[in-house]
Amino acid sequence: MDFPGWDGFLGTRASLMLDVVCVGMIVVVAVLGWSIRQVRRHQRYELHRRVQLGLAGFLLVVLTVFETDVRLHGWQARAAGEIGGKASTAVLATLTVHLCFAVSTVLLWIAVLFMAWRWFPVPAEPNSHSFTHRRWARLAAWDMVLTTVSGWVFYVMAFVV
Ligand code: HEM
Repeated sequence: MDFPGWDGFLGTRASLMLDVVCVGMIVVVAVLGWSIRQVRRHQRYELHRRVQLGLAGFLLVVLTVFETDVRLHGWQARAAGEIGGKASTAVLATLTVHLCFAVSTVLLWIAVLFMAWRWFPVPAEPNSHSFTHRRWARLAAWDMVLTTVSGWVFYVMAFVV
């Protein structure tokens, strides 16, 4: 069907940017896990700092392009499978759950990044901020995982089923 905007590459009804974000989130979670492992197992604090800042920059760019695409072209027609169609209640409920995780993740990441930038030295190494960072950063990391999982549930419900 001739939906507004570009079609994605995963062979579903989703748009290009939806596919880019969905695949991108899996890459982000994988790199995040690797970065945390570098700190835990190998004490590579400076590498962790750089990777986390890189991830934040990557997310900022991809999510800005994604938001622009969704605002310009919408997504509900693709979810409904017909031009002018609306998403079902079940799809909207899944989206609400996903947005709760997504919004809290953005807020947590901004807070964790700001505090780390403010309190850790360059090059990064443990100090009196470590305890607070470990607690909030673990929460931020799990929130990112849940954002990704709930995002994929929404994607499948809206654009595959
Ligand atoms: C949102 C971004 C970030 C996340 C999700 C994150 C995640 C984590 C996690 C989960 C740990 C604890 C690992 C463990 O369980 O022992 C950790 C440790 C650490 N992170 Fe981050 N981090 C982020 C950003 C940063 C930044 C920007 C810096 C530096 C400016 C930094 C510096 C450190 C340091 C020095 C440690 C070691 C703390 C210690 O064990 O004493 N992190 N990070």
